[in-house]
Amino acid sequence: MAIEIKDQDAIEKMRAVGALAGEQLEMIENYIQPGVTTAELDRICHDFTLNKQGATPAPLNYRGFPKSICTSVNHVVCHGIPSQDKVLKKGDIVNVDVTLLKDEYHGDTSKTFVVGKASILAERLTKICQECLYLGIQAVKPGNHFGDIGHVIQQHAERNRFSVVREYCGHGIGKVFHDEPQVLHYGRPGTGPEMAPGMTFTIEPMINAGKADVKLLSDQWTVVTRDHKLTAQWEHTILVTDQGYEILTARKDDTIPRSG
Ligand code: MF3
Ligand code: CO
Ligand code: CO
Repeated sequence: MAIEIKDQDAIEKMRAVGALAGEQLEMIENYIQPGVTTAELDRICHDFTLNKQGATPAPLNYRGFPKSICTSVNHVVCHGIPSQDKVLKKGDIVNVDVTLLKDEYHGDTSKTFVVGKASILAERLTKICQECLYLGIQAVKPGNHFGDIGHVIQQHAERNRFSVVREYCGHGIGKVFHDEPQVLHYGRPGTGPEMAPGMTFTIEPMINAGKADVKLLSDQWTVVTRDHKLTAQWEHTILVTDQGYEILTARKDDTIPRSG
């Protein structure tokens, strides 16, 4: 199956829902404090999505997922389920992953927050993971290949003695939450499909402090590092433009230009 090319109408709707998803991460930042539970973060995001943004939280009931956002703390790689029992404490790192649906289109984005002040390792891991995302975004350009994205991400992670999770990847996104292509966070330059203007997809590297291996918990959602070492993730939804890229889920705190 070919990778879908969005028309102007679809791109406008992707921009609109992407902006809302980015704003939601800006909103939740203030609540990420020692003592808050991940269930409270879920409730705040859920209410904000429906009542303030006029959108729908796409994860809720998606393939049976029970909550509106994913909250992945410390050694949780992705798809952590918000819980009343999970109280954030100073020094934790937590990835908050939001996906909104509005006017039939999806916007998907996440970042790893540091609770209070974290260890030097935790700060370095989350910073390198953000840089991996930005390097991947800078490889987005018509004529480049998806393998170019994976290559720069893998190279930056491994040069810093971190490892790239293989089992989960970025994805095409539009009316479909998880569409083609699979956007791998490792690979070789020049491999994979070619990028073309109008494609929309996520880049969402998961970078581990220890080994790359992961394990799925018995709840069938929570993914953890097998060695229980720290892991971080950052995600944006990206549009391929005639020139290069546009970050559809950009926030004020991003340190890369919104387009390039
Ligand atoms: N937002 C996640 C992603 O980046 C997917 C979450 S699916 C859920 O693709 F069901 F776990 F919410
Ligand atoms: Co995604
Ligand atoms: Co996501």
